[in-house]
Amino acid sequence: MGGYIPEEILESIRLRADIVQVISGYVNLQKRGRNYVGTCPFHQETDPSFTVTPEKQIFYCFGCHNGGNVFKFIMLQHQVSFPEAVKILGEKVGVAVPEGYSPKVKERLRRGEKVWRINALARDYFHAVLMEHPAAAAAREYLAGRGLTPEIIKRFGLGFAPGDWDALIKFMQNKGVGVRDLVEVGLAVQGERKAYDRFRSRLMFPIADIQGKVVGFGGRVLGDGTPKYLNTPETEFFSKGKVLYGLDRARQHIREAGYAIITEGYMDAITAHQFGITNTVASLGTSLTREHGRLLVNYAREIIIAYDADAAGVAATIRGLDILQELGCRIRVLSLPEGKDPDEFLRKRGVEAWRRQVETAVSLVEFKLQVALEKYKNVSTSKEAVLEEVLPSLAAMNGELEKNEAIKLVASRLYTSYHAVAEQLRRFSNNQPKIGINSDKIAKNKHNIIRKNRINFGERAEYGLLKLMLEDTSVIDSVTGALPGNFFRDSFCNKVYEIMLNIYKHPSYASSVLFDYLEEEHQQKLGMLLMEPVPGEDVEGMMAGYINAIKRRQLLEYRDKLIAALAEAEKSGNREEMVRILHEIKIAEKP
Ligand code: CTP
Ligand code: MN
Repeated sequence: MGGYIPEEILESIRLRADIVQVISGYVNLQKRGRNYVGTCPFHQETDPSFTVTPEKQIFYCFGCHNGGNVFKFIMLQHQVSFPEAVKILGEKVGVAVPEGYSPKVKERLRRGEKVWRINALARDYFHAVLMEHPAAAAAREYLAGRGLTPEIIKRFGLGFAPGDWDALIKFMQNKGVGVRDLVEVGLAVQGERKAYDRFRSRLMFPIADIQGKVVGFGGRVLGDGTPKYLNTPETEFFSKGKVLYGLDRARQHIREAGYAIITEGYMDAITAHQFGITNTVASLGTSLTREHGRLLVNYAREIIIAYDADAAGVAATIRGLDILQELGCRIRVLSLPEGKDPDEFLRKRGVEAWRRQVETAVSLVEFKLQVALEKYKNVSTSKEAVLEEVLPSLAAMNGELEKNEAIKLVASRLYTSYHAVAEQLRRFSNNQPKIGINSDKIAKNKHNIIRKNRINFGERAEYGLLKLMLEDTSVIDSVTGALPGNFFRDSFCNKVYEIMLNIYKHPSYASSVLFDYLEEEHQQKLGMLLMEPVPGEDVEGMMAGYINAIKRRQLLEYRDKLIAALAEAEKSGNREEMVRILHEIKIAEKP
């Protein structure tokens, strides 16, 4: 399906089209716990069964069993084919799809490509100036003084904008790029009489989107002038709230590491990469947005925030974190000693000290607790107030084990009992909008696939294992290591696994992508499986159990085959063969 739409385009639409936002345009959605619910647009109902989960970027209706990703929703809603749905969504989020698109989109595509092309030219120009030009000697010294190697300077395409008023304008004119385009892209400024270069005498940090296209620049003064950083102005092609600096380089490493580190500044991210901590990105000094979160959760759900410890940093940190949590992230906060940012810390204390900081980074609840305790100073008179600040985070936690640990922690910090905190939490949760009908529906459906179904243990293991792999790609690696080939018997599991193996290594893989490759019937099943909760807390243990069950089944089948072969050999009186088979049966029967 959709094979002729370039993967890159599907990806950028998928990344920009948040399923909650898109569906909200058609269905009145209410937040219920971690999900959103509404009345299903695809069948008649009064009680809402239609559920959207931001964290998985899927929808599923417990009434009519329609389910899928954002493309599927548009297909059903507009009664169109997959390529048409892609086009419609592309228009909504401003990504052009080749072939037959509207003049509006065509125009945007043209401008988008112009922006990227001009920015790429500018990046190469600034970089060449930095590396070779006599006027950039001070800049080279500055960077060397801050410990950047030529190799890392090259890797991040850093550059230098000369001090002249029109160095870039002249360079671009030679390349056939006019001043008006430069102004539009934000590289030149229109003055009263003449246009001039926006960036002058500045170190240039090219900012790329997730696919590596240069969308803008940050320009830093050498030394202490103001403003310290000058940025490309916000346009439809460049918005700080929508890019994470370094993500194009970090995304694969984030997936491998299983977590991402978010820093504030260019230098923090670059230094981290230089020290081999390549799962690091920077939020460019802004507070974290839903878009940032959506960019990250494709790669890992565990996120470590490594901001400066100054007050502004802390405030910005807290603001963004709830959004990330809503997308299903587990957040830990790494607090560096006052006044130090990750860049300085790494250079002064080294990687080992950094790793210790990462290991001891505290959970969101603990962090909020620390901040609240700091704020209220006297614990004994302000327990209630402190509790007030951390209850929302406690309530938002989904793992029971994790939540219990957090309650214990809060209790001990407030010198009160576990029960007192748990009781407050219960009250708080009861006062929240009722979970209502919808979660009952989820609960009723809860064991539908993995636990209930007619299925025998071997099959249950298949569904269980598939569920774990859908939740976390690192499980896929373990499974392929333990069980060769496509061992699934169930046709649904077999198909999903086949597709998964083909695409899960791709940087933009997410389980919601699988819908694009499945038949209707299998889409429904996938929707249901994605919606049901993981059947336990101990993922490692469950995985080992399922794998063993499948191995055992394989072994038993193999033994049956050998026994049949033995009977065959006996019939034909082949004694030698019988001995060989008996020997194999013995091996097969060993536990
Ligand atoms: N920032 C910005 N404009 C400013 C100040 C900051 O865009 N006037 C953004 C930049 O992306 C910067 C980040 O916020 O990287 C963090 O700011 P700061 O900590 O001041 O800068 P550092 O990255 O630490 O830069 P340096 O180490 O060179 O001082
Ligand atoms: Mn710094």
